[in-house]
Amino acid sequence: MRLSSPEINIITKACMKASKSLIRDFGEIENLQVSAKGPGDFVSSADKKAEKIIIDELLKAHGDYGIISEESGYINKNNISKRWIIDPIDGTMNFLNGIPQFAISIGYEEENEIKCGVIFDPIKNEMFFAEKGNGAYLNNSRIRVSKKKHLKDSLIVTGGPKNSSELKKEIFSEFIKVSNNVNAPVRKFGSASLDIAYVSCGRFDGFWQRELNYWDVAAGIIILKEAGGFIDFFDSKEEKPLIKNVLATNSIIHGELSDLILKKNIE
Ligand code: IPD
Ligand code: CA
Ligand code: CA
Repeated sequence: MRLSSPEINIITKACMKASKSLIRDFGEIENLQVSAKGPGDFVSSADKKAEKIIIDELLKAHGDYGIISEESGYINKNNISKRWIIDPIDGTMNFLNGIPQFAISIGYEEENEIKCGVIFDPIKNEMFFAEKGNGAYLNNSRIRVSKKKHLKDSLIVTGGPKNSSELKKEIFSEFIKVSNNVNAPVRKFGSASLDIAYVSCGRFDGFWQRELNYWDVAAGIIILKEAGGFIDFFDSKEEKPLIKNVLATNSIIHGELSDLILKKNIE
């Protein structure tokens, strides 16, 4: 394992620190689930607590770098040349329900390009990370995307919106259509960053989802690229905070899956 940039060391340290608080809070969820009030408020405070630990750590290292974070929004907004992109808990619904499938996701962007990133699953103790030009890793091992050539032999993962509206209904019907036509099993695991990390290490062969935020995918962009995968943003309108429709694959099945998503070859 070769980590050379100071930024990835800073991110890793921030992740480790915040994960201690998340693991402690996750341990409380079981008790709260059976309480009358439920764990809702507790989870949102766990989320904010973890975010604060991360932001404090990043600002301690570079007080002037920009930050885009899910809960706090923008910090040092004018610095757009160097900034951190943070999702303190990606997979909140899982966390809330005591399901151990969530991650801290932090990417570092320079001049609009993600240079390095970490996706850390604190419960399974799996740290996915990469920096430009130095490959992608899961803990101490180098990772690569799968070599599957055809969609029919693949395992695909997707994610969906949490609530309903007309647009959400459209997305849901796309999900049904693609699932029916994809000719491969489709899973929903509830944490977009981990979905992309899993494509990066070959557990899944492809991932797509509409309407993701930048913090859901920032770290995944560099991890997948460095693992030999391909990510693109279809039908995307650059809206703040950078909402994206994401297609991330092992690169070989990209064309086939993309045709399906874009409703080519679909009834
Ligand atoms: C969510 C997760 C989920 C995806 C949602 C995201 P959150 O992030 O990544 O997998 O389907 O679109 O909002 O809210 O748990 O940070
Ligand atoms: Ca998220
Ligand atoms: Ca989140």
